[in-house]
Amino acid sequence: MQKRHFGSSSRDVAVIGQGTWFIEEGEPSATVAALRRGLDLGMTHIDCAELYGSGAAEEVVGEAIAGRRDGVFLVSKVLPNHASRSGVIAACEGSLTRLGTDHLDCYLLHWRGAYPLQETIAGFEHLQAQGKILSWGVSNFDVADLEEVRRIAGTGHPVCNQVLYHLQERAIENAVLPWCEKHGVAVVGYSPFAHKDGLPNPRSTRGRVLAEIAAAHGVTVRQVVLAFLVRRPPLFTIPKASGSEHTAENAGAGELRLSEGEVARIDEAFPLDRRARALPTL
Ligand SMILES: NC(=O)c1ccc[n+]([C@@H]2O[C@H](COP(=O)([O-])OP(=O)(O)OC[C@H]3O[C@@H](n4cnc5c(N)ncnc54)[C@H](OP(=O)(O)O)[C@@H]3O)[C@@H](O)[C@H]2O)c1
Repeated sequence: MQKRHFGSSSRDVAVIGQGTWFIEEGEPSATVAALRRGLDLGMTHIDCAELYGSGAAEEVVGEAIAGRRDGVFLVSKVLPNHASRSGVIAACEGSLTRLGTDHLDCYLLHWRGAYPLQETIAGFEHLQAQGKILSWGVSNFDVADLEEVRRIAGTGHPVCNQVLYHLQERAIENAVLPWCEKHGVAVVGYSPFAHKDGLPNPRSTRGRVLAEIAAAHGVTVRQVVLAFLVRRPPLFTIPKASGSEHTAENAGAGELRLSEGEVARIDEAFPLDRRARALPTL
């Protein structure tokens, strides 16, 4: 599994991690086994949130990482309506309890809400001083929001921005990705398969491009998609899978390197909309 520097943190993190949205809806033992298989295969970045299943997803993750916490880069997120200074601290305590751990590797604001960023950042800094989080970042932030974080917290912040990124939704490449690249902020792309049904029809031109590249490497189309989404720093991706087979397939993309020509073909088949677009409103 390829790893790369995770923003301003001192950590090298697997480029392909594991999402957990709706993971609590799967058969519990199969879901736990799938997450553990993902860890075995190097997908050590696990992304969760207090939102997912109202905490139930964190409980499943807690079971999966029990006894192997040291090998995990564990991320969770605070909801915007909990993002006051004291609210962030209380929400983190809840996540730590459900996850069965004493610290998170990174804690994110899920999206920007009504609380001033100063408040949220003060909560993050308090948690970091206590060793309950090792770093903090944001999610669904546009450039203006990122600039504001940097003005408040200084260089090196946020550690990451987690944003929507898949072949049909490349809006971050217009401004967010270049900004993060310039300022050393990790970009964690979510919903790499467009949440579900993210692959083009195999008989379409786009589908054929992906299939040809996959055949040339002896891999699957999904593995080509994931490799494209992490084709250069500072990109990471976090597909969600609820069964070990899907997990293993996704992990297999962690060693796949596409040539410049292959990246150019995918680029042409899934063109970037150059119009300035904001991130989705959640
Ligand atoms: N920060 C945010 O606002 C935000 C928003 C959305 C998502 N996220 C994070 O990003 C993660 C990933 O995004 P997502 O859950 O929206 O969707 P996704 O990863 O794009 O797609 C998940 C779907 O793809 C299927 N799948 C995964 N691997 C597969 C494989 N190898 N073969 C066939 N099907 C496969 C899954 O099926 P099975 O379940 O049957 O395996 C599931 O239906 C989330 O789980 C969450 O952690 C963050």
